[in-house]
Amino acid sequence: MSTLTGSKRISIPEIAGRKGGTPLVCLTAYTAPMARLLDPHVDLLLVGDSLGMVVYGFATTLPVTLAMMIAHGAAVVRGTSRAAVIVDLPFGSYQESPERAWRAAAKVMAETGASGVKLEGGAEMAPTIQFLTRRGIPVCGHVGLMPQAVQSAGGFRATGRTAAEAERVAADAAAVAASGAFAVVIEGTLEPVARAITSSLPIPTIGIGASAGCDGQILVTEDLLGLTGSFAPRFVKRYADLGSAVTAAVDAYATEVRARRFPGPEHCYLPKSAPRAAE
Ligand code: KIV
Repeated sequence: MSTLTGSKRISIPEIAGRKGGTPLVCLTAYTAPMARLLDPHVDLLLVGDSLGMVVYGFATTLPVTLAMMIAHGAAVVRGTSRAAVIVDLPFGSYQESPERAWRAAAKVMAETGASGVKLEGGAEMAPTIQFLTRRGIPVCGHVGLMPQAVQSAGGFRATGRTAAEAERVAADAAAVAASGAFAVVIEGTLEPVARAITSSLPIPTIGIGASAGCDGQILVTEDLLGLTGSFAPRFVKRYADLGSAVTAAVDAYATEVRARRFPGPEHCYLPKSAPRAAE
């Protein structure tokens, strides 16, 4: 079993120090009970703005608000004691200016207890990343496929297929690293491109749909558990089919309620004098 020992929370310098070492194990978490289950097994939990699609049923991450991220971020921090927890800055909360990003990130840090924030963007976000990191807020970058830019990209499509795309992702990752980010997520990027970026950067790369050439991996937890329906992107490996387990359990419950087999006497508060069934 792949559990980790130690009671102290993994720090951001420890995550950064894993460059080129044992791959970082990262997952998303949105709630305290799921975070509690994941905490002993992972190095880092991301409260991703993917919660807009996974938890709230939106078609994109664009409607996610800072208030949502703070509520879920605080829940995940409460449910964990050892994984580093970072929280996504949602669309519209940081792109306008470094000062606006500072206010959003500082609110997230103060109100959730998270160890850092993540934001999407490459060279254009470099001044913002520098503004935050120089003032004490650890930042994880996010390049390649950037879900908050889904409208301008024309959909959720992998990048790095042409020389121009490959150069753009590499330049973005280099700008993010030079700005002081402690790590960078590379999403939906061709394998050789992600591998080359990983060997050229001084900070860990965390891949999602970006190959085993990265310094770590992240997946949306509900995807790997089979809780997000039948469609899954190519980069998802289903490690369990909890969707089927939920369907079977709820079907059994509905059958027993309709047949008055649940609740049984063992689930009822009975007067002391009443005979107890099957004891
Ligand atoms: O929002 C999210 O969950 C993410 C990960 C998929 C990297 O950004």
